[in-house]
Amino acid sequence: MQVFVTRNLPGGALDRLRGEHDVEVWPERLPPPREELMARMPEVEGLLPLLTDRVDAELIAAAPRLRAISNFAVGVDNVDVEAAAARGIPVGNTPGVLTDSTADLAVALMLGVGRHLTAGDAFVRRGEWKTWEPDLLLGHDLHGATVGVIGFGRIGQAVAQRLEGFECELLHTSRSGGVPLEELLERSDFVSVHTPLTPETRGLIDAAALARMKPTAYLVNTARGPVVDTGALIDALQAGQIAGAALDVTDPEPLPADHPLVQAPNLILLPHLGSATHATRERMADMAVDNLLAGLRGEPMPNQVT
Ligand code: DGY
Repeated sequence: MQVFVTRNLPGGALDRLRGEHDVEVWPERLPPPREELMARMPEVEGLLPLLTDRVDAELIAAAPRLRAISNFAVGVDNVDVEAAAARGIPVGNTPGVLTDSTADLAVALMLGVGRHLTAGDAFVRRGEWKTWEPDLLLGHDLHGATVGVIGFGRIGQAVAQRLEGFECELLHTSRSGGVPLEELLERSDFVSVHTPLTPETRGLIDAAALARMKPTAYLVNTARGPVVDTGALIDALQAGQIAGAALDVTDPEPLPADHPLVQAPNLILLPHLGSATHATRERMADMAVDNLLAGLRGEPMPNQVT
């Protein structure tokens, strides 16, 4: 069958796909432009997109032969899952394999922003370090801190598990329980976001939510950029309303170098690296290919969203 993969993937998973199907892999580093994606839709039977590719109702409607979509991500907010389901097209994702890598990074960001890792590094490199000083770049401890985990799925729970080792007081809020979001925001020293992006969570951390946080608290987001209102966060950082933020994901993504967020103080920015380890990305590629192979065979995908 005709398969389109929107970027080369790490490891040998694509060779397994090539072993069974006629596979075209978009060869560029940047995502295929919309017109390139659309141009392939009349023939494509299997689609393996990345989170950077918008697989919306228009794209799905342009693909009359499409039988399976396998997203190279656990989040499927880039895919119109309902439009696919309406056509009976299964959508696969890659849950579980990236839980630990993403949870590790969330904790790294808490430590990084709380202890000024990037600011300290830049300070030394600029030649500003003149002597050891009692009050140089003082931060806040993660050990013993109160940490609020927003979204208590696999990744949120893995973060909480790690923080037991730091003797943190853990709060969480989720659809199925925990404390109210308002209480979590007011009590936490670190607020870590782990919700999927849905209509309900878009803009969840807005100006009102940021206003509830302590002035000594930090916000960490390794989930999806639009869960945090970017403008409100810039205002909160500039006003010193919170102590800082560390974002692996932003809105927009990628963040242009001249975006006002880049100039905001007390902020660590990363280019969406949550799952970016060799082992995790290879396992994601294997899962995405396994999902697509099953979907094209007409079998249930091992990890199927719809
Ligand atoms: C995902 O899989 O949804 C992640 O954001 C990629 O790291």
